[in-house]
Amino acid sequence: MRPFATVVTALCGLVLPSSSIVSADSIITLTNAEVAADYKPPQVFKNTNLVRNINLEKGYARETINVVVENVDKQPQSEYFLPFPSDVFDRVGGLEVRNKKEPEAGRFDVAPISVASPSDVQYFLVHLPEPLEPSSSLTLGISYSLLNSLEPRPAAIEQSDRQFLSYSFSAYVPSAYQTVTQKTKVKFASSNVPDYTTTDLKSGADPERQGSTYTYGPYDTAKVAPGTTYPITVRYEFTKPVITASLLERDLEVSQWGGNLATEERYWLRNNASTLLNQFSRVEWTVSNYQQAPSSAVRELKYPLKPGSVDPYFIDDIGNVSTSRYRPGLKNRDAVLDFKPRFPIFGGWNYSFRLGWNNDLAWFLRQVASSADSYVLKVPFLEGPKMGEGIQYEKVVLRVILPEGARNVQWETVEGPSSNGLPGAKQIQSELSTHKTFMDTLGRTTLTLTVESLTDEARDSQLVVTYDYSLWDALRKPITFTVGLFSVFAALWAITSIDVSIKSR
Ligand SMILES: *[C@@H]1O[C@H](CO)[C@@H](O)[C@H](O)[C@H]1NC(C)=O
Ligand SMILES: *[C@@H]1O[C@H](CO)[C@@H](O)[C@H](O)[C@H]1NC(C)=O
Ligand SMILES: *[C@@H]1O[C@H](CO)[C@@H](O)[C@H](O)[C@H]1NC(C)=O
Repeated sequence: MRPFATVVTALCGLVLPSSSIVSADSIITLTNAEVAADYKPPQVFKNTNLVRNINLEKGYARETINVVVENVDKQPQSEYFLPFPSDVFDRVGGLEVRNKKEPEAGRFDVAPISVASPSDVQYFLVHLPEPLEPSSSLTLGISYSLLNSLEPRPAAIEQSDRQFLSYSFSAYVPSAYQTVTQKTKVKFASSNVPDYTTTDLKSGADPERQGSTYTYGPYDTAKVAPGTTYPITVRYEFTKPVITASLLERDLEVSQWGGNLATEERYWLRNNASTLLNQFSRVEWTVSNYQQAPSSAVRELKYPLKPGSVDPYFIDDIGNVSTSRYRPGLKNRDAVLDFKPRFPIFGGWNYSFRLGWNNDLAWFLRQVASSADSYVLKVPFLEGPKMGEGIQYEKVVLRVILPEGARNVQWETVEGPSSNGLPGAKQIQSELSTHKTFMDTLGRTTLTLTVESLTDEARDSQLVVTYDYSLWDALRKPITFTVGLFSVFAALWAITSIDVSIKSR
């Protein structure tokens, strides 16, 4: 018992840092502040230097901004406004802001501000945990993904053509404050970049090119008014699919009685690649497949599963998909489920399917050492196929189905020194409900977490759920079952003892 208790204490220390646990019963309300369409944030900061990295190696854009922020006001300040153009605001995924020099101190609170429409920009409000003193500086590390931001150009191609995507952004990074100097580095998936905007914003070539990285700037923008834009468009080769899940429903079902964790996921996938100019040719597909030629169609999805995952299944709208292959993980290696959809998924095509598997619950659940009736469940928030081109998720609904009678449910996501790909807890909607299945009396406690705009950057993120569950809760089901069985016998006995024979008179 002693080693187990030590492990539990260590584990709890590991997964439950001093940071507050967000209670699932309180549905988090976002900042209700609404500001006028022409709202201008108070000019209390100055960006002394800003570097933006735009990564276009996947089927969505990922941007990171490191900016040195100085307080130019006479009072300490703690509210930094982060603007996005209104048309991309809803597609910002996994936004995270932290102190670049002290990343282990964790993420800052970020809340969307609603701006009365019509407005060209919308804001996120970043709350600095400690107000910045006048004339002091801080380096913010800001990261996020932009979903559905890559447009195939041309929009339709031949089946075996190369594909090109285009991406547009402003050479001047959107900012609510004066920015003294700034530059933007763009990393492409290949060095084949046939079109890109050139500028005369600085002396010498702009952008400067080096392999698959193009650098715009540095620009001296001290005299450029905040909010000024300078449109840039780049078009580059990306002969890979643009995999989009319009919805992922992910159910994790804890069976404390059976010691099992059952996972089922339902995907509604779409490929946002160039559409086919002509009809799909099976012959041409077989040839290009044989040559392993790159394609913008989805051929296969590789899904790593935790070691020890068993009973995998993969079912689409037609039925079992037998072309999938499961390689169990040996030792502590991940298992891999390679699944081939029934047909290649070209641009504009949809594919929905469901898959699932079981795991030994002991890998995920621990009893809290200090209290016999408390449990800690640590599970992946998102798994999903692992593809070089990445996956964007427009909406993820995660349901954690706990045992019947589980109470005092609390949850938090595990934060580390770098981004886990998830937005802050305030941008994750949570709800507690009960879910009735066979022989349940109370219904099983279900925690539902909903996130919009997520990418596979969140693949390795972890969710911790704590709950109370007593011996009586554990016995409720067998007792209900026994009582149920007993009443059936009693009823049978009563029925058989009634004389129903038709007596001849
Ligand atoms: C992706 O596909 C959907 C549905 O076909 C479409 O509405 C959306 O505009 C596409 N996104 C991009 C960036 O092309
Ligand atoms: C699907 O496959 C599983 C296991 O391979 C099997 O148990 C099940 O009966 C199959 N279902 C259908 C509808 O073929
Ligand atoms: C694909 O799914 C989207 C919804 O995600 C739907 O609007 C669209 O019509 C579907 N396309 C086809 C070709 O079925």
